Amino acid sequence: MVYRAGLIGCGGVSRSHSAGLQAARNVELVTLADVYEPNLETAGKAYGVDRLYTDFREMIEREQLDIIAICTQAPQHAPIAIAAAVMGVKGIICEKPIALTPAEADAMIAACDRAGTKLAINHQTRMIPNTFLVEQILKEGVIGDLRAARLIDKGGRPAGNSLMELLTHVFDLLRIYAGDPAWVSAHLTVGASGPGRQDEPQRLAAIDDVVYSQTAWPRDRDCGLVLGDRCNATFGFGPRENWHNGLTASLESYFQPIRSSTGEPWHPNLELVGTDGILFLGGTSNHVDVYLHRGAWAPPGKLERFDAPPREIAPGPYQERGQQAPYHTGMVEELVAAIEQGREHRSSGRAGRWALEMIMGVYESHRRGGARVELPLAYRGHPLQRWLEEDGRPLPPKPEARVKVLNVPAPVG
Ligand SMILES: NC(=O)c1ccc[n+]([C@@H]2O[C@H](COP(=O)([O-])OP(=O)(O)OC[C@H]3O[C@@H](n4cnc5c(N)ncnc54)[C@H](O)[C@@H]3O)[C@@H](O)[C@H]2O)c1
Repeated sequence: MVYRAGLIGCGGVSRSHSAGLQAARNVELVTLADVYEPNLETAGKAYGVDRLYTDFREMIEREQLDIIAICTQAPQHAPIAIAAAVMGVKGIICEKPIALTPAEADAMIAACDRAGTKLAINHQTRMIPNTFLVEQILKEGVIGDLRAARLIDKGGRPAGNSLMELLTHVFDLLRIYAGDPAWVSAHLTVGASGPGRQDEPQRLAAIDDVVYSQTAWPRDRDCGLVLGDRCNATFGFGPRENWHNGLTASLESYFQPIRSSTGEPWHPNLELVGTDGILFLGGTSNHVDVYLHRGAWAPPGKLERFDAPPREIAPGPYQERGQQAPYHTGMVEELVAAIEQGREHRSSGRAGRWALEMIMGVYESHRRGGARVELPLAYRGHPLQRWLEEDGRPLPPKPEARVKVLNVPAPVG
């Protein structure tokens, strides 16, 4: 069977999704939708797709789609996913973060469960062969018992924005190995005279510092209410059968320049610390470099680089098929497998919801003075909105939505 696919939201990330959908086996990208016609037309020409719609519902209905890719910004993820599930699509790949609140994520998962729709969240890092390799290394006991993890952000955005836009990938990566966190304790800080002052000593972020993401960082996407320039958080994980006997993971996120003084880019990184060694994972999204330090802790000495043999370790030959966007291709082929085998996607809606749970847990803990907060959260709304509401304050002013014009290389073919 060939699965008919449609893409919704023809902005920047649609470039990788169109490439992934076009390279995947047994999938045909037949149609595109965007409310902003200039992007729709540019994408149509660039991706060689001529069935174009400004209304995604009309597109799904007329084109009898099996699969959709939701490439809009976060506020549209839940309404589009829920509508598409109700309309009967078989599979959805939705961009990260899954949604703006746990309640929205719950509604997406419930709608997909009711309709029998497979929901995948585009934490495409999960399709990188090295992430499978790390699973194997841990299970073979190469670093002994996993005892701790450390996550460091790459910077370049206020921590509040990064939680929703970048750290969602790193939280998801950690969860492959650590499982579901049981609790979080966190603090968010800003410069002494307010947010955005990286040159000043830090103070705890206050209720007046809660803003919309595009106020905090005008170049960023709309990912709802955010708080803080820096973030320190500790997550606790209970024992996980065949994996570990419980561990804590600490996060450091700084609003610092994205390049070092020598011009090298920073990558977000994750260290997995065991009794017999440490695994260093650098990167997310389109690469994860893996290095191993054998032995008990020691000043950094000789690190061994590990690279997975892609075909042998990850399912299917998507790495070779999708040269332009191999892991997006992997996400699509994994979705087809999930539909045909009636099972969850490796990057399922439930996994995507856990990443959001960890982000909202950071906010909830900070709201409660750094208290240890149990996960999953009992309150399913946005903790920052709750903080404002309980203090009798209005929501902060929301900046006007900015349309980003799609910029694509020369049309394909
Ligand atoms: N997984 C990754 O590595 C990765 C990388 C980049 C972006 N993203 C995510 O992708 C999402 C989109 O980011 P972007 O930079 O491409 O955004 P963008 O603003 O460039 O593009 C979004 C597009 O969606 C369109 N749109 C808005 N509402 C719509 C609707 N109701 N129906 C149809 N189209 C609609 C807009 O007109 C715009 O063209 C974000 O959630 C972002 O976090 C993920």
